[in-house]
Amino acid sequence: MASDSMQRTLVLLKPDTIQRRLIGDVISRFESKGLNIVAMKMLRVTPELSKKHYAEHVERPFYPGLEEFITSAPIVAMAIDGLQAIAVVRNMLGATSGLKAAPGTIRGDYSGSQQMNLVHASDGPEAAQRELDLYFDAAEFCDYDPVLTGSLRAGDE
Ligand code: PPS
Repeated sequence: MASDSMQRTLVLLKPDTIQRRLIGDVISRFESKGLNIVAMKMLRVTPELSKKHYAEHVERPFYPGLEEFITSAPIVAMAIDGLQAIAVVRNMLGATSGLKAAPGTIRGDYSGSQQMNLVHASDGPEAAQRELDLYFDAAEFCDYDPVLTGSLRAGDE
């Protein structure tokens, strides 16, 4: 990653995205924004991985349902690079609940649920590092120079 404000974030397309055949629509949003997908795979989250991923929520009343949901079908995990990518992606997702997420956001446009809100994204740099490490080995990141960068922003941005 070139500039200081370049960041890498973890994005999960959750089981509802897969079941609803929305993988392509959601990935298109990130591509259209100019973000770079540098790793991607489909996998099944195990209860063990769920407990690690949602460690801060394991004791909360909703956790059993959340684990049942996240392990119910495959997910797609992605690493996404971009300028201020952590905040940019979180803003693209919208509020946690699809009922509260603004129109134009992914959840606002496609979800009406707190649990089935389609996409997870890291909420800060420490979470991003921890979560990227949970889903990807270092060798799985495919860094490249995006040829469109000069058409997406000025050289000093
Ligand atoms: S909170 O309540 O502010 O801590 O919520 P948040 O950090 O935004 O949500 C963390 C993840 O937990 C899921 N969640 C729930 N699932 C089921 N039922 C309820 N009530 C519920 N509340 C939160 C929510 O979808 C978040 O999942 P991720 O994968 O992080 O988007």
